[in-house]
Amino acid sequence: MSERLEAVEGHAFTLIHGDNVEAMAAMAEGSVSLVVTSPPFEGFFTYSNDAGDAGNNSPSGFNLAWRFYTEQLFRVVAPGGTVVLHWTDLIAWGVKDGFMGLKEFGSRLFESMDAAGFHLRAKIAIEKDAQAVASRMHLHNIQFKTLHTDTRKCWPIRNDYLYVFQKDGDAPPVTSFQRGEITEAEWIDWARGVWRGNETDVLQVRGTGAPDDTKHVCPLQLWVIDRCVVLWSNPGELVCDTNGGVGSTGVPALRRGRRYIGMELKPEYHLTAARTLGDLERELRAQQVLFSLDATPKAPRSRGRKKAA
Ligand SMILES: C[S@@+](CC[C@H](N)C(=O)[O-])C[C@H]1O[C@@H](n2cnc3c(N)ncnc32)[C@H](O)[C@@H]1O
Repeated sequence: MSERLEAVEGHAFTLIHGDNVEAMAAMAEGSVSLVVTSPPFEGFFTYSNDAGDAGNNSPSGFNLAWRFYTEQLFRVVAPGGTVVLHWTDLIAWGVKDGFMGLKEFGSRLFESMDAAGFHLRAKIAIEKDAQAVASRMHLHNIQFKTLHTDTRKCWPIRNDYLYVFQKDGDAPPVTSFQRGEITEAEWIDWARGVWRGNETDVLQVRGTGAPDDTKHVCPLQLWVIDRCVVLWSNPGELVCDTNGGVGSTGVPALRRGRRYIGMELKPEYHLTAARTLGDLERELRAQQVLFSLDATPKAPRSRGRKKAA
């Protein structure tokens, strides 16, 4: 196991450098109201050399790691709490996989979540601009030259999806409508199974300082996280990202007056998240948004904390 940095604690957030299964094991049972996370996909991106990074695993290694993960997740999520998993299918590469195409990923996430005791409530597709994807990734299957020559080789881009799971149990109602966080008109749009929004609305961070900085992290769009925070949490409740990356989930959570706990293996991302959320809290304090949180309890963690700089 590589060396761990100290946890960083802000006013309403805690960031833990380390493996999410170990970090969840140290948390109180039922302490998390909402998890929004993009799990690493095996063999898709390698974020770190850490053995705990499921992205470094073979399919069977990923499944095993994911089983341990979902068991701990079920323990820390509150009765009635929600888990949102952001995922896409995996690309099969000719040399590595023996064929070109897609390898279905969602069912593997689903099976462990289901076995742990969660129930799937919704599957939401996040719309992407096919032309932008085609020019970024040079995909032949989208291009006009393929259309003009052989439409057998034309197929749409991969979608991103959200799986929304819940744990059975009584929980206080989420009163976002009463607070004006969502309107009826917005709900008409959000209730569709496809969410449309700005693809580039992701957390902008300065370089993380990692030697492989360019291999960053496929951050989830902030407007997507924000909808999840509004729909499935109340102010003062604890929102968690177990694969916290550079801290994207923490941003809408803190802006909406929720508390946040993030876990991340890669030290450079952990430190970037600390800087980002520390800066955000100072900005929110200046706007007095955080004052209403003064009466709420801290994120449940006690070991080796360090105040955000
Ligand atoms: C898809 S990225 C998430 C990016 C994040 N949504 C953001 O906006 O920065 C997955 C992250 O999970 C981290 N990770 C992988 N295995 C982990 C583990 N066992 N515990 C904690 N973090 C892990 C990776 O280092 C990577 O930053």
